[in-house]
Amino acid sequence: MSEGILLAKVARGTLLPEADRVARLELALPQIRAAVAGETDEVALQATLACLLWETLAQTNWCGFYRRVEASLLAVGPYQGGMGCLRIPFDKGVCGACARTGATQLVPDVHVFPGHIACDGATRSELVIPVRVGGRVVAVLDLDSPHLNGFSPAEARILEDLLACTFV
Ligand code: SME
Repeated sequence: MSEGILLAKVARGTLLPEADRVARLELALPQIRAAVAGETDEVALQATLACLLWETLAQTNWCGFYRRVEASLLAVGPYQGGMGCLRIPFDKGVCGACARTGATQLVPDVHVFPGHIACDGATRSELVIPVRVGGRVVAVLDLDSPHLNGFSPAEARILEDLLACTFV
């Protein structure tokens, strides 16, 4: 078994100050890139990113992927956290909006997002980023937090870059 990544232990659910979260993510990034270097299998990549981003992003209560299984339908993929919804149509929820529009969805308060799907009632904010292969949205990375404003634009940009480099 591998050792995962080397980061200071932070209790699950802790929302560090934004600058500390970005610094932690930047410390984890080269380790995550090294862990997946050379891997091309989509499930192996998604499972490993779900694991390592869960370790890195202490503010999350759910961290994982929904995969495009039909033209307008997502099904759950590798994840960490409580049980997620199994299927999400493109016209539902934050994940559906991301898959439909191809745009990152940074939602500081899910209660004011029309059509948000409450898989876990504790979730208060969400970041969903499209995964593209050959220009087509094939999946989304879904990150949920029990905190309002659990994610920042800087974290979104770093994760967009990581996904763009990992899935080609
Ligand atoms: N909240 C998401 C659904 C997925 S889960 O919470 C794991 C949404 O609205 O898309």
